[in-house]
Amino acid sequence: MQSLVTRFNDLLVSVYLYNEYTGYKELERLIESVRIKFPEEKEFIRDVEKHCDDERKHYLMFRNYFKKNNRMPFKISPAFGYVDLFINHIFRKNIQDLDRQEMLSSDVLFFKLCRLVMMTEYRGMKQVHALLQMGLIKNNPALFKIFKVIERDEPSHCYPYQYWLKKYKSHLPQFQERITDLWIHYSLTLIKIPYLFFNFRLIRMKEFYA
Ligand SMILES: [Fe+2]
Ligand SMILES: [Fe+2]
Repeated sequence: MQSLVTRFNDLLVSVYLYNEYTGYKELERLIESVRIKFPEEKEFIRDVEKHCDDERKHYLMFRNYFKKNNRMPFKISPAFGYVDLFINHIFRKNIQDLDRQEMLSSDVLFFKLCRLVMMTEYRGMKQVHALLQMGLIKNNPALFKIFKVIERDEPSHCYPYQYWLKKYKSHLPQFQERITDLWIHYSLTLIKIPYLFFNFRLIRMKEFYA
């Protein structure tokens, strides 16, 4: 029983680790774009920088969790990455193939990307509340502490985007974006993660992402 609990926790943390990593890497690119496209938006740029630092901090907390326990994370593919999937569904491209130049020259595409970050953060906020109610997390003081830090940080991530997008009258998610968010969330939690849990051929990483 204990090994199944450990497996579940490791899997959950591995999925988070992957998402925090891809999240802060994408935010590094977004900061560059916002600096170029809206250089006068100093406050918003500072908010995105802080957001990026927080996601990197979250990544390091999860990495330390594995290091302290002397285990490596499971190898998670982009099929389990919230941002990867969102970009994939909305832009029909892989994250690394996004044309940053095209993004910069189109307000529609650029706001779409920012809205996507905002929605990812809303989803993250709801998800962390749900996790903190779970017995498995409550019974694991190290994980509980990590998720408490995330819970504290999350509101400062989504609201600046909402505020900023509102200023440009572009904060409301479109129908396709809402459906995509729901689909990604439920397919991950109800289908993909349970599938990974029972996939005993799932291997662990040899080294950390960063
Ligand atoms: Fe995070
Ligand atoms: Fe976040």
